[in-house]
Amino acid sequence: MQEDLERVLFDEPTILRRLDELAAEITGEYQNRELTVIAVLNGSLIFAADLLRRIPLSLKLDCLSVASYHGGTTTTGEVIFKQVALPDVAGRHILILDDILDSGVTLAAIRDKLTTERPLSVKICVLVRKLKARLRPVEADYVGFNIGDEFVVGYGLDYMERYRNLPCIGVLRKEKIASPNDH
Ligand code: IMP
Ligand code: MG
Repeated sequence: MQEDLERVLFDEPTILRRLDELAAEITGEYQNRELTVIAVLNGSLIFAADLLRRIPLSLKLDCLSVASYHGGTTTTGEVIFKQVALPDVAGRHILILDDILDSGVTLAAIRDKLTTERPLSVKICVLVRKLKARLRPVEADYVGFNIGDEFVVGYGLDYMERYRNLPCIGVLRKEKIASPNDH
């Protein structure tokens, strides 16, 4: 599987070291406030599991499932909430966890939707942030790694639902990405 990568950007020890730092930052910030984490599935699954075990606070965990990609490597601009009941966020301090901030369409839609339910605060934490212009105005409060505008997989990030279980984050070889004409 790792041979499908053009290059590794962040290996497992590097990711885990960064998670130690992020966890310490978040722990300090929510020391005196009850934190509710909302993990965006499926991409944040591995990130959330490793990050949250480094946060020694009595937090609550909920999940949200959305789809904004339909198999390709660019966003369609449409965000579908896959579950009927959204997590209970009223009166809570919310931290949204997601794998990657790319166009911003997904996180802007989630933040806007949760904000209508009257949370006390909403912050965003992403493992990876692409340094590029966003289609929607949204920024992350906590960022694991900044990268350029390239397609990455691993450590939860997928290409067509594969590569999530790679322990590192890397750039997928161009020939592994199907062209729109391939079937
Ligand atoms: P956005 O709405 O364009 O910010 O994209 C958000 C979603 O697109 C992420 O949660 C990922 O599932 C997916 N995505 C964006 N960029 C990448 C990437 O480089 N690799 C894998 N998935 C990505
Ligand atoms: Mg994805």
